[in-house]
Amino acid sequence: MKIIFYEQNTDIDAWLRGFARELPDADLRAWEPGDTAPADYAIVWRAPRELFANRPDLKAVFNLGAGVDAILDVERKEPGTLPPNAMLVRLEDTGMAQQMVEYATYTVLRYMRRFDEYEALQREGRWEKLRQHARKDFTVGVLGLGVLGAEVAQGLRRLGVPVRGYSRTPKDIEGVSVYAGRDQLDAFLDGTRVIINLLPHTPDTEGILNARAFGKLARGAYLVNVARGPHLVDADLIDALDSGQLAGAMLDVFHVEPLPKEHPFWRHPRIGVTPHIAAETLREESIVQIAAKIRALARGETISGVVDFKRGY
Ligand code: NAP
Ligand code: GLV
Repeated sequence: MKIIFYEQNTDIDAWLRGFARELPDADLRAWEPGDTAPADYAIVWRAPRELFANRPDLKAVFNLGAGVDAILDVERKEPGTLPPNAMLVRLEDTGMAQQMVEYATYTVLRYMRRFDEYEALQREGRWEKLRQHARKDFTVGVLGLGVLGAEVAQGLRRLGVPVRGYSRTPKDIEGVSVYAGRDQLDAFLDGTRVIINLLPHTPDTEGILNARAFGKLARGAYLVNVARGPHLVDADLIDALDSGQLAGAMLDVFHVEPLPKEHPFWRHPRIGVTPHIAAETLREESIVQIAAKIRALARGETISGVVDFKRGY
């Protein structure tokens, strides 16, 4: 079988060596512009349109991340970009859930124990004790209960805070109050103290973090966006922070990445910025998972993690 690989800014040789170890019979190559030779499988992250063009033989495209919005966006803008018979397969966990649990736990603890405020007090040289927030009132809501969101919700339960989750279809997750579908979004948001976004970016979820949603949260709530920048209406976040409706935000993803130097988020005293590192793609785990799926497909078996083009994730 022939496999092409594309990712910018990575150690391509290390990826190819890993795949060669797992798939010794495969003919592997790094894709470069102009390469139109046949391929059965493509393993890519943010690949140019040209990579997919005129490849009727492609059986599957493996996305080197959980979110497939970039690939689907190219297809939406230029229908027919993806070969008609190729399935699109996303990474399932591969060590990202643990990283997301860490990011969410750190952020919730930072707000609940008021470490963000102690940091501000230290900068002013002030010795002041703040009243602790009551754990039972510190409801945390996780938007998206998929591979990553479900793990984050479970992980946060261990902090002893009430945990809610929101998904498209109903779920049964021990100790988590689940709200499903747009009809239940307001009830999910109502009184929530920290909201953590782990939804995929689709036409349905774009702009979901907006003034209306912020208005439903508890006064002085916090926002954690670790999914995609276009979920958030940036101006609504600034307004909500200025009015006191939100007390702070931790953002890992942005409309434009890298976040432009002049963007007000960089300098806002109540916004934390990280450079899209909440959960990174881990090479070894990803190679093992993708190679196992390629072997399964070659045996004619079905695999998990196949993207439903209509749902958009
Ligand atoms: P996933 O397994 O596909 O889960 C998506 C969840 O969102 C599911 O629970 C789904 O509901 C729910 N959902 C989708 N559309 C919805 C809608 N319109 N209304 C309500 N719920 C909806 O995805 P994942 O692996 O957990 O990853 C989630 C996202 O995290 C990715 O798409 C990516 O954007 C982001 N991410 C970011 C980083 C980072 O470093 N910042 C790293 C990895 C991933 P159902 O369960 O009912 O289908
Ligand atoms: C990273 O953002 C991913 O989608 O895996």
